[in-house]
Amino acid sequence: MCGIIGYIGDRDISSVLLVGLERLSYRGYDSSGIAVISSNELSIWKKAGKIQELSRILSGMTIHSNIGIGHTRWATHGVPNDINSHPHLDSSKKFCIVHNGIIENYLELKNELINDGVLFRSQTDTEVISHLISKYYTDSVEEAFQKTIQRLKGSFALSLISEYLPDQILFVRKGSPLIVGLGKNENFISSDINAILNHTKEVIYLEDGHYGSLSQTSLTVFSEKGKKVTPKISSINWNPEDSEKQPYDHYMLKEIHEQPHVVRKIISKYVSNDNKINFTHLNGLDLSNISRFIIQACGTSWHAGLIGKYLIEQYANVVAEVDISSEFRYRRMISHGNDVVLAISQSGETADTLAGIHEAKSHFFPVLSFVNVKNSTIDRESDGVVYSHSGQEIGVASTKNFTAQLTSIYLFSIFLARVKNVMTPEEADKHLNELKKIPEYIENILNQAEKFKKLADKYYLSNQILFIGRGMNYPSSLEGALKLKEISYIHATGYAAGELKHGPIALIDSKLPVVCIAPDTSTYDKMLSNIQEVKSRKGKTIIIATEGNKEIKQYADDIIYIPKTTEDLTPLLVSIPLQLFSYYVALNLDCDVDQPRNLAKSVTVE
Ligand code: F6R
Repeated sequence: MCGIIGYIGDRDISSVLLVGLERLSYRGYDSSGIAVISSNELSIWKKAGKIQELSRILSGMTIHSNIGIGHTRWATHGVPNDINSHPHLDSSKKFCIVHNGIIENYLELKNELINDGVLFRSQTDTEVISHLISKYYTDSVEEAFQKTIQRLKGSFALSLISEYLPDQILFVRKGSPLIVGLGKNENFISSDINAILNHTKEVIYLEDGHYGSLSQTSLTVFSEKGKKVTPKISSINWNPEDSEKQPYDHYMLKEIHEQPHVVRKIISKYVSNDNKINFTHLNGLDLSNISRFIIQACGTSWHAGLIGKYLIEQYANVVAEVDISSEFRYRRMISHGNDVVLAISQSGETADTLAGIHEAKSHFFPVLSFVNVKNSTIDRESDGVVYSHSGQEIGVASTKNFTAQLTSIYLFSIFLARVKNVMTPEEADKHLNELKKIPEYIENILNQAEKFKKLADKYYLSNQILFIGRGMNYPSSLEGALKLKEISYIHATGYAAGELKHGPIALIDSKLPVVCIAPDTSTYDKMLSNIQEVKSRKGKTIIIATEGNKEIKQYADDIIYIPKTTEDLTPLLVSIPLQLFSYYVALNLDCDVDQPRNLAKSVTVE
């Protein structure tokens, strides 16, 4: 959450900072700001609203400077207004800070500073940092910065520029991501590679607790204990064009359409021509004696975990529990021996999931993570990793990465079953051969865009929509509801269809659309009864069923068919109509599909 960019070099500073912020804006888009030093003087521009608001106040200006920092905010402390926007200054206006994360002891520090006579301008936790640096400054900005970071509790990434040190950017990474980009006679600091990929592919992923300084031609990094370290340089092979949305109107639509490619890519990464599954980053994790997985994740990744539970239990005969990370991290952890904590995360930076990993490790659980972003914190802190290979996901609502997570968990479950010798090679072949048909099936659904538009036209004015499913498609109903509410702001809830009569059935009347996920599975007959319960209370049924099922049509106000596949693969197909329905509903309502209100792509605060 929140994006930080810093640049020191000869390019046009405002363009480097603004383009960088635009590319970081998926991390938060409540307000943005930049600060530069020119002719030894600090100047700041900041504005509530999206980056375009900031660009507007900067348009027509030529800024002569070769050092600057910028920030895009997801508000935690204080409403999103101009004053609370970053960068933040101290009272002498000599120290300028951008910050990602939360300073947990800020109230205590703020009271101390108020007692010293400091006047605060904003409601943010960040402002204490610039005042503290000012308090500790005698003749070395580096020393004042170091003393300040020792007093801060919480998780944070910071960048500082100061008139007293006009040729350096100071930085620290503690619990929130920060990378350094190395260029020729120029250097960058950023929350992630998106912001700087256009300029350099040589980056340093700073380790937790590391801090240092960056000049136009040099970089100095210290460990948390103050020892000078030589950081490892990584070369990035991402293509900046992956960050473009053309020819689609939105990243979300582009990413929905990338799903057949993503499934094919994952299969090609993990399955050999003779159907052998191989995961290369398990790093020696012994899975043969494993007796329990504890899956922990947030949001859409948690839904993938719920589906993963079914697959792991069914194929590999291993117990799998699933928990929301923000709950898991505070629960007593009881080890039965041979347990593995399995974390799932697209960004690899989600604070709660990461904290769950830390808790698990402190109780000596091995951690296996399913992660999309390579070199992310979760990637680096896990014992073993399975990469989702979905490429860069920019739309805030997760689509292609959900599909990627499901595909890789499906493969992992078969792999585990083979390792544990509870699945024959012939059975594994059958599952894999069916998976290989999925990309084509997804293409088939994507080709029916007109249908989803019509459906959206019919239902977009609904006040609320209920989603129901059973078995593996109960999590699909949760995901369908999450997609709809996050991008269209229509209230939506997912329910296990069997639970309807235990309460939510009271909601049903002639105005309530109910999305009923009812493909051909072992619980189809039960689902059919649940649909009739809805129908007999005059609910409007939007049914997702398997192609060729004519019987179910009589219960449907609207019907969407998906190609026939095995039960275990139905969530992969079901999610596509649900994504497209949400997308077109949100479009009809004029919502900002890629950057829905109040959200951020990477949730790096608790
Ligand atoms: C919803 C969505 C979020 C994320 C959640 C976890 O569309 O994207 O619910 O799934 O914030 O994020 P990751 O997977 O990055 O840990």
